[in-house]
Amino acid sequence: MHTIFITGGAGFIGSALVRLLVQETDWRIVNIDKLTYAGNLESLAEARTHPRHCFARVDICDRPALERLFTEFRPSGVIHLAAETHVDRSILGPAEFIKTNIEGTYVLLEAALDYWRTLDDSARRDFRFHHVSTDEVFGSLGPQGFFTETTAYDPRSPYSASKAASDHLVRAWHHTYGLPILITNCSNNYGPYQFPEKLIPLMILNALADKPLPIYGRGDNVRDWLYVEDHARALKLVFERGQPGATYCIGGHNEKTNLEVVDAICALLDRLRPRADGRSHAHLKTFVADRPGHDKRYAIDASKIRRELGWQPLETFATGLEKTVRWYLDNAQWVEHVQTGEYRQWIEKNYGSRS
Ligand code: NAD
Ligand code: DAU
Repeated sequence: MHTIFITGGAGFIGSALVRLLVQETDWRIVNIDKLTYAGNLESLAEARTHPRHCFARVDICDRPALERLFTEFRPSGVIHLAAETHVDRSILGPAEFIKTNIEGTYVLLEAALDYWRTLDDSARRDFRFHHVSTDEVFGSLGPQGFFTETTAYDPRSPYSASKAASDHLVRAWHHTYGLPILITNCSNNYGPYQFPEKLIPLMILNALADKPLPIYGRGDNVRDWLYVEDHARALKLVFERGQPGATYCIGGHNEKTNLEVVDAICALLDRLRPRADGRSHAHLKTFVADRPGHDKRYAIDASKIRRELGWQPLETFATGLEKTVRWYLDNAQWVEHVQTGEYRQWIEKNYGSRS
């Protein structure tokens, strides 16, 4: 039986990956997460108590703790998702982004390399360090064109600069020390269990609470949206079948302006949860000051992963968004625990207040 380390497995994408791997493989999953404000064990659903899921509350900057985990569990690979991920937070306070995304990735690489060097030839060949990254490392597109695996790096926010630095470190550990790595750069994810600071869950929950829907600038920035479970399937495929040393771009071919996204959410809520006063939720749209350095457009050319690994998204934006809105309507308890901070009280009670 394979043992795989997943870092950041209590976050939005990490928890979707853990749920998928527990369901579709016989691997033992060691979920390594610091449980910051964005980590929530409730997002693991049934996977949380599965006999092949093991949780370790560990900071990826803590080298001795990582070394203990490598020695105890002897994994055949690492899928690294742990990161600070919200662009607005990185603008207000970059320090945690530099710490976790750059230093944390460095510490994890060093611990993984030390362990990898103890393996026999065949286990070394089969080992993979899969780094999960973002399309934001490529910067901002004009009205035409797509990011590909060969697009030059041009990060513009503290978040994307920290992710770009971590990508460079991961490639350096491959070229210099021979560590078999994989890198994926994905576009904007959406779906169940996303922390309501990101555009889609924020808009759904604000609309339900009759609060303004803050749209940065003119709302004409474009993002390429991918349903989180499609991303999780892509990660599994790349981890299992990707070429060591290679990069894969992952995206949904679902380019939308932010205004189109907010209008689509309002239309769904008007149908699924009409307001008592008969007005459309769209009347809550409010234009606010733009994000500093706001990247104009992201769009991914995902033809490499489709051609080489046969991956393509199963959800369209319409089907994925309806599933997402329905999930937030049906999961009031998860939402309430996040909004009231109750999930943090649970973490503090069970693990102490370390984050
Ligand atoms: P998230 O913010 O929902 O979750 C991040 C997780 O990492 C949390 O569980 C948190 O507790 C954990 N974490 C943070 N710092 C840690 C540390 N020092 N040690 C251990 N754990 C720590 O993030 P997400 O949206 O699920 O993103 C996961 C990964 O995917 C990130 O690396 C992100 O850059 C990348 N990514 C995200 C998107 C997106 O649209 N959300 C798109 C492309 C790539
Ligand atoms: O492209 C991948 C990236 O997508 C990931 O690497 C990041 O971790 C993830 O957070 C996401 O970054 P964005 O900045 O694109 O996502 P966010 O949901 O914060 O914003 C999406 C767009 O919506 C962006 O153009 C800013 C705008 N926005 C966002 C918020 C929170 C608003 O107009 N109003 C808002 O309140």
